[in-house]
Amino acid sequence: MPSPARIHRPTPRNLARLAGVLQRGGLVALPTETVYGLAADALDAAACGKIFRAKGRPATDPLIVHVLTLAQADEVGELNPAARKLAAAFWPGPLTLVLPKREIVPAMVTAGLGSVAVRMPKHPLFRKMLRLAGRPLAAPSANPFGYISPTTAAHVKAGLGRRIGHILDGGPCRIGVESTVLDLRVPEHPVLLRPGAVSRAALAAALGRPVRLAPAGTTGEAERTTGLPGPGMLARHYSPRTPLTLTEKIAAGRAAAAPEEAFLFFRRPKTRAAAEAKNVFWLTATGSLEEAARNLFDRLRHLDGGAWHAIRAERVPGRGALAPALNDRLARAAARKG
Ligand code: TXA
Ligand code: MG
Repeated sequence: MPSPARIHRPTPRNLARLAGVLQRGGLVALPTETVYGLAADALDAAACGKIFRAKGRPATDPLIVHVLTLAQADEVGELNPAARKLAAAFWPGPLTLVLPKREIVPAMVTAGLGSVAVRMPKHPLFRKMLRLAGRPLAAPSANPFGYISPTTAAHVKAGLGRRIGHILDGGPCRIGVESTVLDLRVPEHPVLLRPGAVSRAALAAALGRPVRLAPAGTTGEAERTTGLPGPGMLARHYSPRTPLTLTEKIAAGRAAAAPEEAFLFFRRPKTRAAAEAKNVFWLTATGSLEEAARNLFDRLRHLDGGAWHAIRAERVPGRGALAPALNDRLARAAARKG
């Protein structure tokens, strides 16, 4: 077991060495524009097995395969015309498509399913590693199973530092929440499995047809086959250890009455007294959903590391693309059990 993990700066020499680690069947945590991923050669079953062990992830939970090009995407999954439309509109970017799987992908990667989740990431360092490694890379979020996804190299080290050898530091992630996952196995019936920065409305507009929401707690094929939902679908996921309660708007004055609890507001409270209280935190100073998304997982980790008895968070207001994604993650963090 490699220990402890080294954080590498993205020098050309380090990138080449880390590509070698991937080619030899090793694990490297890499930055993407959404969250950090724990990468391995997607076509090497033994390498991907190491991902499951490092994360403590159940073998029933399939991985996302990251690709550099459309041709590579078509090598791992069957790109139907609807998938090509979405790829043209949103790739490279924070969109994962669940497609019929090709045989080349080991069963371990897809948890034995007939489908594979494919994403073409935008982060220049991840793309460079795909190019250097010369193969698709399987990568779930680089956190112990069920915990909050990492948006910095330090987050990865805090969670997996004793279980993996290498972390590539690309600074904080630009988006901050995981990709939108869309089930496109049946192109006439697209189903949103996980909300992210690419909104349901944007997907529907690009496809020219409505996109259904997955019924809560299901994943379509994943559930039918294994009887277990994928964790993106688990009610409790992305979770701090400190109990978290999610409510509609919290009155600014409430924090003063409960000093042993941490209050996570969407926006910085307007009065100075409220904003300066030690137990008051917020996701954005300006009301920007983008800023809130970048901060969400870091705030949850920070609050979880404090001595708070409980965390009270308020739902994210507004209709922007990221509001459903942020409320989805907050709701999962608040759920008591899976
Ligand atoms: O932004 C992201 O998607 C990040 C970065 C690293 O790319 N990755 C990520 O991976 O969030 P992970 O494993 O934490 O979440 C992948 C989600 C899980 O909910 C998994 O169950 C679902 O995608 N998934 C993967 N393959 C699937 C399949 N064949 N059918 C249905 N769901 C699938
Ligand atoms: Mg994850």
